[in-house]
Amino acid sequence: MYSEKVMDHFQNPRNMGEIENASGVGTVGNAKCGDIMRIFLDIDKQGVIQDCKFKTFGCGAAVATSSMATELVKGKTIEEALQVTNRAVMEALDGLPPVKVHCSLLAEEAIHAALWDYAQKNHLEIQGLEAPKSDVSEEEVEEEY
Ligand code: FES
Repeated sequence: MYSEKVMDHFQNPRNMGEIENASGVGTVGNAKCGDIMRIFLDIDKQGVIQDCKFKTFGCGAAVATSSMATELVKGKTIEEALQVTNRAVMEALDGLPPVKVHCSLLAEEAIHAALWDYAQKNHLEIQGLEAPKSDVSEEEVEEEY
């Protein structure tokens, strides 16, 4: 059912953890399955993503997509990172079963939410970036767990 790459990223997730004093943090959740994903970005003065980490309370596909998403945005500029869509993450993982597509959407949304947080903190406008839809605040996360 799952590709070897999905299994690999699920069993050996890359970049799991958090970044202290991150340039941007994005937390998103899916109300239906209750899974939550948080992405931390370290962005340098040139707007290049130097580091990216994730924390995911979710299913195996959510862990695998978070892991792959962090790999894909590392070393990229903000504009390039915006191109890392859920489709790109799924392709890099050699696909996901249809019922698991929403898990990859969480990864795309979490990256966007982290970029949005970075933009807000630095008073920047990033073209093509919209306010996160399913961002859940720190307090809400704590209430749920
Ligand atoms: Fe919801 Fe995977 S089942 S993120």
